[in-house]
Amino acid sequence: MISRDYLFDMFSLDGRVAIVTGGSSGIGRAVAGALARAGAQVVVVARREEELAATVDELVAEGCRAAWVSGDLGTRDGVRAAAEAATEAFGEPDILVNSAGINLRPPMGELGEDVWDTTMAVNLEAPFLLGRRFGPGMAERGFGRIIHITSQQAHRAFVQSGAYGVSKGALESLARSQAEAWSPYGVTCNTLVPGFVMTPLNTRLSNDPEKVAALAARTMVGRNGLAEDFAGAAVFLASRASAYVTGQSVFVDGGLSVH
Ligand SMILES: NC(=O)c1ccc[n+]([C@@H]2O[C@H](COP(=O)([O-])OP(=O)(O)OC[C@H]3O[C@@H](n4cnc5c(N)ncnc54)[C@H](OP(=O)(O)O)[C@@H]3O)[C@@H](O)[C@H]2O)c1
Repeated sequence: MISRDYLFDMFSLDGRVAIVTGGSSGIGRAVAGALARAGAQVVVVARREEELAATVDELVAEGCRAAWVSGDLGTRDGVRAAAEAATEAFGEPDILVNSAGINLRPPMGELGEDVWDTTMAVNLEAPFLLGRRFGPGMAERGFGRIIHITSQQAHRAFVQSGAYGVSKGALESLARSQAEAWSPYGVTCNTLVPGFVMTPLNTRLSNDPEKVAALAARTMVGRNGLAEDFAGAAVFLASRASAYVTGQSVFVDGGLSVH
């Protein structure tokens, strides 16, 4: 016998409001869709309007509630403006997913300050500022879920993208500090850690069949990740079911990190 009420109580996001940065592409888009299909009202935030509108149109066509905000998370003012705009459609969020990210990849020896600053701004500072904007409100209301998307590069060097790995390592530390601050008030803060996922972020690698096969062979499952692989873990971390999971880095990588 399946108890639908049991599943609903545990995993439903009905009545929750979620903001998903980078929700118009790749992992963020899959996560936004998963949260919306699980019942949340979802606001996706990124820069390009066409991709944002397409994401929201698809969800609304399925009967979900979704809205979009175009904003640049690469500047502090941009983050602040996007945060305020993101509350207009459905109000203050219960769930914040930071998936917006960039990987600019100059090798360490050629890494300039501009790339360093841009990487830290989008990958680390925006999640910090959004957490500071929304975390205290979640704590006051007694429920919240903050989910960052980090990377295997928070744990190991990979294809020479030094600044990116640094930003992701720091993002995992940020999740632990946020967890320490707000978990007593019902706000859990965790990260989802992808391995290699076939998205627009890594077109250069994913267009090279030999590299794709070599990376797939390093997993245990035997294939590279797909954006949809993050749907279940995101719903779990956003739901009531994960109330006792906080400050954790949850690897969704087909076993890559333990192979
Ligand atoms: N794909 C992988 O193999 C992989 C592996 C490890 C970790 N990750 C992480 O997973 C997350 C999602 O990556 P993905 O592969 O899904 O990448 P993606 O398909 O390139 O999506 C990135 C998203 O971030 C948004 N974004 C980028 N810069 C932004 C800015 N300045 N302001 C606002 N939005 C911005 C993009 O939209 P606009 O360009 O329109 O702004 C897009 O929606 C990232 O944090 C990435 O580091 C990915």
